[in-house]
Amino acid sequence: MTKRRLPKPSELKQILRPKPIVLNPTERRLAGAHTIADLRMLARKRTPRAAFDYTDGAAELEDSLRRARQAFRSVEFHPNVLRGVSDVDTSVSILGKRSALPFAFAPTGFTRMMNHEGEAAVARVAQRNDIPFSLSTMATTSIEDAAAAAPDARKWFQLYVWRDHGAGEDLMNRAWAAGYDTLLLTVDTPVAGARLRDVRNGLTIPPALTLKTFLDGATHPAWWFNLLTTEPLTFASLSHFDGTVAELLNKLFDPTLNFDDLDWVRATWPGKLVVKGIQNVSDARDVVKHGADAVLLSNHGGRQLDRAPTPIELLTPTLDAVGDDAEVWVDTGILSGGDIVAAMARGASACLIGRAFLYGLMAGGERGVQRTVDILRTEMVRTMQLLGVRTIADLQPTHATLR
Ligand SMILES: Cc1cc2nc3c(=O)[nH]c(=O)nc-3n(C[C@H](O)[C@H](O)[C@H](O)COP(=O)(O)O)c2cc1C
Repeated sequence: MTKRRLPKPSELKQILRPKPIVLNPTERRLAGAHTIADLRMLARKRTPRAAFDYTDGAAELEDSLRRARQAFRSVEFHPNVLRGVSDVDTSVSILGKRSALPFAFAPTGFTRMMNHEGEAAVARVAQRNDIPFSLSTMATTSIEDAAAAAPDARKWFQLYVWRDHGAGEDLMNRAWAAGYDTLLLTVDTPVAGARLRDVRNGLTIPPALTLKTFLDGATHPAWWFNLLTTEPLTFASLSHFDGTVAELLNKLFDPTLNFDDLDWVRATWPGKLVVKGIQNVSDARDVVKHGADAVLLSNHGGRQLDRAPTPIELLTPTLDAVGDDAEVWVDTGILSGGDIVAAMARGASACLIGRAFLYGLMAGGERGVQRTVDILRTEMVRTMQLLGVRTIADLQPTHATLR
């Protein structure tokens, strides 16, 4: 029979160690989030339904997004052992400049609707962590204010070209003057995708106080208080808009967009040019011929065409076609550091994350975005160590196979 005894007080002292007290309630909440999925759950609790669904949702049956996420989940990693991996370097060069991590914050519209701290908070986190930040044409913070919030961050501007080239030219001039060094030209939006959650929720910009939203407001008082006590939601590109999201998008998006517009942008923009929303190899080849410095394989986070190609699966054939003429980047569906390691192993030059940082923002403002970066960095470093690689350049396609 097992012999029993009374524990000594010194032994109990070792065991009874209360957790350090975190005074800040946001920090306390975030400390319990260990994955992006945890941040998403917090985001859902803290944000009114319509704003959460605008972020979380995708087009039609949401299969583009589901498949893209599934493709990352289906990756099989192949580790090497006995490689000495105490020091891991996650930095990469993206279009000629060093980034501490191989991912950037994707451009997202209406970011102050998700949390009142909005784009400025995201830009500050980019600056602190030495990664690039992108500002959307539909940002709710102006080009100049976002630049002033993070003067030392590397900044990219995302452009929607619409019929009035004058407005686009004005935005490009302002972005260049404010220190944005790269333009992401989004080309997968000739018209708006059918975001059915927004239609069903009756989402309008600015959010309207209908009976439904009013009742929802009772359960999210802090969000409404923050919305109503900060600058009204205005856009980088439009001074004022009242209407549904679909109406706004259809006003901004231009179904006549074609390669002449790309040539015009290339001739107008003095910095690096990335074409965002490429979904097949021949388009990738063509935009590079037209002067793109990078192609971003993306289906817009599944928010445009449903049942679209899965970007990570296009990586190998696109790299074969484009060679050294341009960088190939990828986004859509990235929810973990392991996903980023897989994309880099498959040959991407950079990744963009969208919802992963927006969940953080909704969960806890600037601190929540920082939590996103911390989670992704920790997961990346661990995955690289377990794979037996010390640098991103050491990652090879054989380390991560698609199934
Ligand atoms: C809420 C939200 C708003 C977005 N707004 C824009 C935008 O204004 N311009 C743009 O080019 N892409 C926009 N995107 C797409 C992102 O830039 C990016 O391609 C996508 O989020 C990547 O997929 P992920 O969310 O799975 O990471 C948006 C995405 C989300 C989730």
